[in-house]
Amino acid sequence: MKSQAIALAAALALNLNAAIAADTHTDHHVPDHDDRVVLDLNPGERAMILTEMRMFLDGLQKMTGALGKQDLQAAAEASRNMGQKMVHEVPAELRKKLPQEFRRLGFSVHSDFDQIALDAESMKDASATLNQLSGTLQKCVQCHSMYQIQTPAHDAGH
Ligand code: HEC
Repeated sequence: MKSQAIALAAALALNLNAAIAADTHTDHHVPDHDDRVVLDLNPGERAMILTEMRMFLDGLQKMTGALGKQDLQAAAEASRNMGQKMVHEVPAELRKKLPQEFRRLGFSVHSDFDQIALDAESMKDASATLNQLSGTLQKCVQCHSMYQIQTPAHDAGH
């Protein structure tokens, strides 16, 4: 019993060391600063983007729930709701502030969801849909690793 506990503790220590080593390599330690590119937006623009983001999260919740039940039709519907039809007219002012790469990734995610919806309906294969979804979520990850939104406390007045 005791030697088992020691072995476990040793294994945990090893894992911890491995984790620390991995951290120093991949720079995944708890950050004390945020060096992602800043999107300098006003509060309304920020709210518009974050609302869309929460619609993604909501849509993914519905989509994964449907896939878990092998309900490909409902999964397709949830996916389609995150497709081009979710895109609203982006005011010109805001568009000017969004880097091209940001817009490219955003567009690409929406068109992926349209494609996933079509494939879910035609292939009716939940695990194929999950694989496609995972590929698209990689784009969410990518964009979040690159950009942050900052809102000035006071309008700079220009
Ligand atoms: C084109 C870039 C981009 C893409 C693609 C993207 N996001 Fe975001 N998302 C952002 C930015 C920028 C923020 C704000 C991050 C910050 O300021 O720290 C954000 C914030 C969020 C938030 C927080 C919302 C809130 O109210 O605070 C959620 C949830 C989110 N994203 C989910 C997703 C999901 C899920 C996907 C993929 C389906 C996705 N996002 C794709 C750029 C993106």
